[in-house]
Amino acid sequence: MYRVLFVCLGNICRSPMAEAVFRNRAEKAGLAGSIEIDSCGTGDWHMGKPPHEGTRRILDGQGISYEGMLARRIRAEDGERFDLLVAMDESNVAAIREALGSDTKAEVVRFLSFVPGARLTDVPDPYYTGDFEETYELISEASDRLLAHLLEAGKIKTAAI
Ligand code: 4NP
Repeated sequence: MYRVLFVCLGNICRSPMAEAVFRNRAEKAGLAGSIEIDSCGTGDWHMGKPPHEGTRRILDGQGISYEGMLARRIRAEDGERFDLLVAMDESNVAAIREALGSDTKAEVVRFLSFVPGARLTDVPDPYYTGDFEETYELISEASDRLLAHLLEAGKIKTAAI
């Protein structure tokens, strides 16, 4: 089992969108049983809340489930449990390192680092931009790229037929 944790600031806009979209792509590829997917925030303002209305509207429009997803804050043990921590922006990377300390075994990466030639380095925060569509387009592309990367790198394997 390969474990991926998506991380943003509030865990109500970007990282829950990434969790739901990436899980949907993994399910479509028949890889749901090989990957554990979760999300969290580095801040604690929205703990226990479902995804933001804007994120829910996008996911509903795409027919992607977010059932049971509730915001939580990053925990020290996330650095031990997860193989890959995927940050939405550079400030998330810094906050993750601060929360987990330097001895975490997990790899910490920016989500858009998986998109070659991406015009942005950070996934814009729709909590401030209001543009959930733009954020979805970036998360959608990055999810496909991340899945392809994990397969190519041999981190996850397609079931033998
Ligand atoms: P997210 O967006 O990090 O994509 O979930 C935010 C949500 C809430 C806040 C900031 C960003 N906030 O300050 O409450």
